[in-house]
Amino acid sequence: MKINSSKNTELYKIIVIGILLTICLLTTYYFHFVLKVEVLFTHLFYVPIILSSLWWTRKGILVAVFLALLLLVSHIISHLETPTYIDIIRAIMFILVAFVVSILSKKKQTLEDKLLAYSKTLEQKVEKRTSELKKSLREKELLLREIHHRVKNNMQVISSILDMSSMRTNDQNAINLFTDAKARIHTMALIHSQIYRSEIFDKIDMESHVNELVGYLSSAYADKKMIMTAVNISDIYLSIIQAIPCVLILNELISNSFKHAFKENQKGTIEVLMQKYDDNTIILKVQDNGSQIPDDIDPYNTNSLGLKLVRNLVTQQLKGEIEVQRSKGAKFIIKFKITNNETKHV
Ligand SMILES: Nc1ncnc2c1ncn2[C@@H]1O[C@H](COP(=O)(O)OP(=O)(O)OP(=O)(O)O)[C@@H](O)[C@H]1O
Ligand SMILES: [Mg+2]
Repeated sequence: MKINSSKNTELYKIIVIGILLTICLLTTYYFHFVLKVEVLFTHLFYVPIILSSLWWTRKGILVAVFLALLLLVSHIISHLETPTYIDIIRAIMFILVAFVVSILSKKKQTLEDKLLAYSKTLEQKVEKRTSELKKSLREKELLLREIHHRVKNNMQVISSILDMSSMRTNDQNAINLFTDAKARIHTMALIHSQIYRSEIFDKIDMESHVNELVGYLSSAYADKKMIMTAVNISDIYLSIIQAIPCVLILNELISNSFKHAFKENQKGTIEVLMQKYDDNTIILKVQDNGSQIPDDIDPYNTNSLGLKLVRNLVTQQLKGEIEVQRSKGAKFIIKFKITNNETKHV
């Protein structure tokens, strides 16, 4: 394709020069043989001279030589009265101009070739560097995956230690404390486990993650079989920095609903809703239809660990705000802005 098109351009160039030379030939003939005067339009001759020198560099000088000879020979044959030296000067000028233009054109070509070669080397270098970077990125991803895997394993070890410790006591309060601590650690381990399995490292799919958490909590509170759960989250991806406080909050609020809102064998529902609005604001709602939060408890100012943790996570980690409603059960509404700050530590 490329060879064909360059052949065509070459042909067009030859045709153009051919036409221009014919015009020069006819002009020379008309002036020398018909009008019997010197050619008045020799400037016209520079057009094919310059074009051919530009296109074919040194070979283009032949056109200038041809036109110089044409002018001189025609001058001599037509026996003009004007002195020959004027046309000799013109002929020399033709060749000189052709020479200069061909040198400049050659230089331009060399520079273009150099530039092309340079850009090719540059392209190769960029390609090589990109593949090196991709390789290093893959290695880093593997490493990161491995780290998340180990963090998850370590958390499971901590969880087992708590489990074993709880077996060493008969005190129900202590057992409950161990169980709660275990659940909190498990919640964080879930995040690392999900990242380890996922293809994306920097974002957590909240829908699948919260479903997993709710599933885990439902089985943990298996004695409350009559409680239904509903999760309504779609298309929300958070950085690990925001996802961890979010799931810890959910862990506290959902466990509270399971633990405190319903009596044994009481029917009820726990709903979790997470929505995005204003492009970068998240609204998170957890509500149940059980008994209300007792009047003597101020959820904005308790000293109990669960709600205190929730308040701290909302205000300090998520830089958000929390609202608690007490109609028909308990309803917690949390609002925060999505941030993309990956370097901030939890
Ligand atoms: N959804 C709810 N329905 C009814 N009461 C609730 C609900 N959530 C919290 N409460 C009340 O608020 C109190 C404080 O909750 P908080 O989570 O701070 O502590 P906790 O659940 O008792 O213990 P923990 O520190 O293990 O979480 C609970 O003891 C309970 O009485
Ligand atoms: Mg609690």
